[in-house]
Amino acid sequence: MISELISQDDLKARIDMLGVEISKECPKDILVIGLLKGGFVFTADLVRSMDKAGMTPNVDFMRLSSYGSSKKSSGEVLLSGNIPANINGRDILIVDDILDSGKSLAYATDVFKGHGANNVMSCILLDKPARREVDISADFIGFEVENLFVVGYGIDYNEKYRHLPYIAVVD
Ligand code: IMP
Ligand code: MG
Repeated sequence: MISELISQDDLKARIDMLGVEISKECPKDILVIGLLKGGFVFTADLVRSMDKAGMTPNVDFMRLSSYGSSKKSSGEVLLSGNIPANINGRDILIVDDILDSGKSLAYATDVFKGHGANNVMSCILLDKPARREVDISADFIGFEVENLFVVGYGIDYNEKYRHLPYIAVVD
């Protein structure tokens, strides 16, 4: 059973605002790096919101996996695939679906800094501050949510529900 938590309209309204917020604080031609797979829908909508706000971002993706096939985190972040090219000297905006323990964002930030990024910022759709294990926060946050397991809008449970156009809670 799933039930809607954040509607399509609420997602759209908030993401339109995020584009404006990002345009006020980041260089126009920032390199957006979406984290796969969970961040793919949010990244697609966010870059179009950034365009509306007058920005001209470059877009790339990096694939991380931290959850196995269940609701329980493995606690280990793995890089599966390549690190985007031409990180050196760039201003980067990491885009991800959920900030949970913080391990994924900390890992991605370290990777980009280690490859010579000039500045690394982050935009996360859903923040779960109660779950944090690493002392890290995002620069731009869509919504703060309670300690609930959510799906939809790119986010899965055992590879299901990524296609939902809204955020839902699984019971
Ligand atoms: P962190 O490294 O613990 O911050 O984990 C972040 C990642 O865990 C997210 O990008 C998601 O892929 C996954 N995750 C965390 N919470 C949920 C959830 O409620 N539903 C599905 N995936 C989740
Ligand atoms: Mg993820």
